[in-house]
Amino acid sequence: MNFSALHEQIKKRTDEGLAAQVSALPDDAPRLKAAMNHALLVGGKRMRPLLSQLVGNMLDVPSQDQLAISMAIECIHAYSLTHDDLPAMDDDELRRGHPTCHIAFDEATAILAGDALQTLGFSILADAPLSDYADSQRGQLLSVLARCAGYRGMCGGQAIDLASTGQDISLETLKKLHNLKTGALLRACVEMIIVASPEISENAATDLLIFADEIGLAFQVQDDILDIEGSSEQLGKPSGSDIALGKNTFPALLGLQGAKEELNKLHDNALQALARLPYNTDTLVLFSDLMVKRDH
Ligand code: IPE
Ligand code: IPE
Ligand code: MG
Ligand code: MG
Ligand code: MG
Repeated sequence: MNFSALHEQIKKRTDEGLAAQVSALPDDAPRLKAAMNHALLVGGKRMRPLLSQLVGNMLDVPSQDQLAISMAIECIHAYSLTHDDLPAMDDDELRRGHPTCHIAFDEATAILAGDALQTLGFSILADAPLSDYADSQRGQLLSVLARCAGYRGMCGGQAIDLASTGQDISLETLKKLHNLKTGALLRACVEMIIVASPEISENAATDLLIFADEIGLAFQVQDDILDIEGSSEQLGKPSGSDIALGKNTFPALLGLQGAKEELNKLHDNALQALARLPYNTDTLVLFSDLMVKRDH
């Protein structure tokens, strides 16, 4: 199977699982449920499920464990985007080629949809049937997801992003911001699969996490570049949003050329970490290429 067919297969499997999770919720709050469906299931590249399942396949982690981890992380990701688009944050009106959640519904519903998607992610990880080994690691899985989503991860990064908007910051601070706001959830995909793998050596786990950190940062650098070079139509979200808001981005700090050089460096570092692994990493090499060469 070629790589894009594999991506499609993983996307379909994840989407079917997620749709079943939302539709199993009772209908007491239909507007909230509709907003959750909108935020979670309308569009999206499913890069995090793809990463989780490629690493999971490489480490022979059972597919039910891969799926639970993928669905949990995608719920957290969808919540982060829903809140990121709110007027109090980036104030964007287009996401995945459709009106953002607060435009399609209203602000209060979008806040609640984000909240409920976040807890749905934790419910999935807490309650899904897992293999015996992953079940024995459930507390650790929840711990990783909570750390990477919260103050020490995505939320912390979003706070630094907001606090530093319109201010001059160092490259070191910008890397920290990006590592937290975007890198942490991508790291969580890999870290949770490592936790669910009984066999992996300490050295291999270290190199896989280096890979995750490098590719996670690269992903946000490319997001920053696309905000300048892409069109809203192609991106499915407003281009030029970062400049309009005075955001700290790699192109803002290093120039477009400097940001592209940094992107290449991060890509190389990620590939070097993969090359050190005692596994067939062909699909992760293709994943890395997709992360940095994508046009949306
Ligand atoms: C967008 O993430 C926000 C970032 C963290 C850069 P994606 O580019 O993965 O968004 P979707 O899920 O495909 O819409
Ligand atoms: C998003 O960063 C990071 C999140 C945690 C959601 P951006 O604000 O750059 O993401 P987009 O460009 O709106 O997708
Ligand atoms: Mg933002
Ligand atoms: Mg944004
Ligand atoms: Mg962006």
